[in-house]
Amino acid sequence: MKRGIVFIMMSMMAFLLILTSALSQEDMVVVNDPAFETPQRPAAVFNHDQHNETAGIDECNECHHVYEDGRRVEDESSEDENCSDCHGLESSGSQPGLMKAFHTNCKGCHEKDGKGPVMCGQCHVRGQADNG
Ligand code: HEC
Ligand code: HEC
Ligand code: HEC
Ligand code: HEC
Repeated sequence: MKRGIVFIMMSMMAFLLILTSALSQEDMVVVNDPAFETPQRPAAVFNHDQHNETAGIDECNECHHVYEDGRRVEDESSEDENCSDCHGLESSGSQPGLMKAFHTNCKGCHEKDGKGPVMCGQCHVRGQADNG
């Protein structure tokens, strides 16, 4: 009898493990901002968590920033918003339009660090899986 229970427990644990690893495969792997309704390029590859870990970026607001009166707020972040919630397709004043916002953020850092892709086809990789 006891053995039966242990077996059931082990099976349940195995099932949970499989379930969590299946779920984690749905992590963000490309940038797919809904504001680009008819994208010209394949969505840019960006394995969110893995990228930030490898690149050693600790602060979420390195990308998910908040501005007040034209100044970046140190200890606030906006990860609950899409970039397009603030950046329109066209620029407005000193606020870059959406595509430029992405390119400046992504490519800008890669150029500054001398690490990470800077060529169109290295980010916009054809045949890349969608976010779904
Ligand atoms: C190198 C830039 C960068 C950093 C650093 C970063 N993110 Fe993101 N994150 C993005 C981009 C780009 C998107 C997609 C935004 C869009 O589609 O408009 C995103 C989307 C998200 C989303 C929503 C989309 C999803 O399906 O997961 C969450 C939640 C999120 N980030 C949380 C975080 C947290 C928490 C941190 C810090 C631990 C963080 N991010 C650090 C770039 C970054
Ligand atoms: C809560 C609103 C908000 C969100 C969300 C937001 N931004 Fe911004 N961003 C701004 C504002 C406002 C400015 C303009 C600051 C100024 O006037 O100089 C700005 C400026 C920028 C700039 C130019 C200055 C700089 O930091 O280099 C880039 C690049 C940029 N955003 C990229 C992004 C990206 C990429 C995302 C999503 C990961 C994002 N922004 C999300 C509000 C936002
Ligand atoms: C603050 C700096 C920074 C920002 C912002 C940034 N990256 Fe990176 N990225 C890096 C560094 C550093 C590497 C190299 C990591 C290594 O050593 O392999 C990298 C590597 C990459 C790679 C190569 C594969 C990988 O995941 O490591 C891709 C693709 C990439 N970045 C895409 C993006 C995209 C898309 C964005 C914007 C949404 C972005 N990056 C924003 C610093 C940054
Ligand atoms: C470091 C990565 C990176 C590089 C290099 C890069 N892009 Fe992007 N680009 C992005 C991200 C992230 C977005 C936001 C939405 C997405 O994934 O398509 C974007 C958006 C775009 C968009 C608007 C959405 C669409 O598909 O219509 C165009 C057009 C575009 N890029 C063209 C280019 C061209 C042309 C080059 C080379 C000159 C280039 N990109 C280089 C990351 C990159």
